Amino acid sequence: MNLRRHFSSQSTLKLSLGFFFASALLFFSGCQSESLTTKLTHELAPFPELIIDNGDDFVVIAHRGASGYAPENTMPAMELAYEMSAEMIEVDVMLSRDGVPVLFHDAKVDELTDGTGYLKDYSLEELQALDAGSWFSEEYVGTTIPTLEELLVWAQGKMTLNVEIKTEAFREELEQSVEPKVVALVEKYDMANQVIFSSFDYQILARLQELAPSIPAAVLYEAVQSGRKGPIDVVNELQADGFNCSWRLYSEQWQQLLEPSAVPVLIYTVNEAEQMAELIQRGVNGIFSDYPDVLAEVATAELSTP
Ligand code: G3P
Ligand code: MG
Repeated sequence: MNLRRHFSSQSTLKLSLGFFFASALLFFSGCQSESLTTKLTHELAPFPELIIDNGDDFVVIAHRGASGYAPENTMPAMELAYEMSAEMIEVDVMLSRDGVPVLFHDAKVDELTDGTGYLKDYSLEELQALDAGSWFSEEYVGTTIPTLEELLVWAQGKMTLNVEIKTEAFREELEQSVEPKVVALVEKYDMANQVIFSSFDYQILARLQELAPSIPAAVLYEAVQSGRKGPIDVVNELQADGFNCSWRLYSEQWQQLLEPSAVPVLIYTVNEAEQMAELIQRGVNGIFSDYPDVLAEVATAELSTP
């Protein structure tokens, strides 16, 4: 059938008008959309050394430790991640009432311990009296909340870390908030080349960069603080050394924008093998998973396929 026959001059006019308005719409929405910059304006601090390194360019990261198998952010979860040959462990850091950095994810202790209320209202001693394992399973009854220092002592020379600083860890009322404390601890144990900091809080990140520019710090992409900036603009503005992002937001286009800059891209939290494989094929540099053993297997299979 010759389709052209079916267009009257009237429908041609309607089509042209439609095309004009659609183009105008695209043009104006394009003006407001995120930037397509690919040019990095600063030098990246080197990515931390992988002490356990399976030799490919992809990093298997245990999210909150091997948190699919043991209570998150506790020492048993760290031990398991180590046994599973994770190449990096991610932990979350909060501050106790008396200002000690501890490993914990939530603002409140209700779901992950036998206590109630805000973590920031507990002194270290009170936090360490909580049971942080029985919510997970009977096997872990009596597991306690570790301090960041305890983790660093355990990990020194043994495991590379992504230390995520939670927004709630910033505490103005304390003489020293979280940033100088975590920097001092990393320096105390001489682990600047074994740690990467990250935060969803762009002010915390900026202060970390100011205090210790040689300890790498990745931005955890957060839409509201980023406005309509593209990923490289966000990285440039914060002088970040890495781009950590949710799989929900990480598009093919962002991969193409970030790739030429060599900014390390780490994606959270992926627990499905199929999705891990897809992201690895897309070219991301690392994935956070609650199941580092599954991720390691998928990575080996994907990266050894010609
Ligand atoms: O650091 C990656 C990931 O842990 C960020 O999200 O909420 O699991 O700490 P969340
Ligand atoms: Mg985290």
